[in-house]
Amino acid sequence: MFKADVYKERRNRLRKKVSNGIILLPGNDEASMNYPSNTYHYRQDSTFLYYFGLDQAGLAGILDADQDSELLFGNNATMDDIIWMGPQPSMTERGSLVGVEKTRPLDDLSGFLRDALAKKRTIHILPPYRGDHWLSLMKLFNLPLESIKTMISEELIHAVVGMRSIKDGNEIREIEKAVDVAYLMHTTAMKMAKPGMVEREITGVVEGISLSHGGPVSFPVIQSIDGQTLHNHSHANVLKEGRMMVTDAGAETEMHYASDITRTVPVGGIFDQRQKDIYTLVLKANEEVIRNIKPGIPFKDMHLLAAQVIASGLKDLGLMKGDMEEAVSQGAHALFFPHGLGHMMGLDVHDMEGLGEDYVGYDDEIKRSDQFGLAFLRLARRMETGWVLTDEPGIYFIPALIDQWKGEGKFADFINYEKVVTYKDFGGIRIEDDILVTEDGCRVLGKPIPKTVKDIENIMQD
Ligand code: GLY
Ligand code: MN
Repeated sequence: MFKADVYKERRNRLRKKVSNGIILLPGNDEASMNYPSNTYHYRQDSTFLYYFGLDQAGLAGILDADQDSELLFGNNATMDDIIWMGPQPSMTERGSLVGVEKTRPLDDLSGFLRDALAKKRTIHILPPYRGDHWLSLMKLFNLPLESIKTMISEELIHAVVGMRSIKDGNEIREIEKAVDVAYLMHTTAMKMAKPGMVEREITGVVEGISLSHGGPVSFPVIQSIDGQTLHNHSHANVLKEGRMMVTDAGAETEMHYASDITRTVPVGGIFDQRQKDIYTLVLKANEEVIRNIKPGIPFKDMHLLAAQVIASGLKDLGLMKGDMEEAVSQGAHALFFPHGLGHMMGLDVHDMEGLGEDYVGYDDEIKRSDQFGLAFLRLARRMETGWVLTDEPGIYFIPALIDQWKGEGKFADFINYEKVVTYKDFGGIRIEDDILVTEDGCRVLGKPIPKTVKDIENIMQD
């Protein structure tokens, strides 16, 4: 947890950014897995963590924008709680850890909110993202779902996104800790990527490294020799020479800041020429983006820059043809690079997407495209100093997509299908780094994780 002043200052700023009314910031409750008392790993709501710092179920915060006051709702531990979970701080002690002076029992929250409604006060809530959020809000206000929806406040969403987007020094240090854990996860995976291993043998070790450093993985590990499946959560393949293993995995620190790193390595440790050609191209796109990130530039331009590097390189390899600027503007490269270049990162690995992806990644100036590929870009607006984001270009040979486009003769002026079909056994490559936008450019966060052909081959021989 950061010092109490950090949370107090954040709450004061948020209260001032919202014109009037009551801001309700509920924490997350436990969620059952297969019977009530067998719960999923507990994860606090990230916005609650940002403003209230407390990492327990059964809490809710109120900020009053009219009266400059704040309240923390929650219960003191009962003897039953202490018997099962050990001694717990009192609510007064919890409040003082994060600079809140006034606390009240959780049972008072419903009355407090209904009273505010009766006084016709505006209530601001953030979009619920779990089923039980809706149910508990309906119960708290004693109102139907449609009425709860009217309380979702764009003013509050914009205020929270504005604040959480800019990471301060403490947050950057936490994210770098998470990247350093990812260093261990990825270098270990590289060394284990030998023919005959089953993917899950490596995945289990990778997850264990994260857990042993203080937190779970920041999202379910993507690890496969079928890297052409973008989010492959099956880990059942046996590693084979001639395939490449994509590992897309990050850690969460004890304070819940995330990392998100992808590396792709040849099974057995030596790239063949075809793998080297495609790998070098993805790496060039990743590095070209790093050279060009700067505050004020739309991240969408970085996506298009990566697409341009990829398309031009594929043309050099004989997989694309024609005018590559035109090909990228029409979206032909998306056969090979069908996803977005990156997303923000912080307390969520896709930071703040619970508040709505478009509120985080788009604005009045830059709207989401509906073109295949570009439409999946989660972050497009102009970058600002203090943002942390990912740079994750990739090239994939997705047999079903190749067959579909070839069958339709899609972009036949730009795609050399004769050659592309010979890559249907290739798989996919993605390279992802976590980047801080600085005043004059950017900085790749954390201890450098091998990513050149030479560095990967070297570490895999160790
Ligand atoms: N690293 C997984 C993703 O960004 O979706
Ligand atoms: Mn990512």
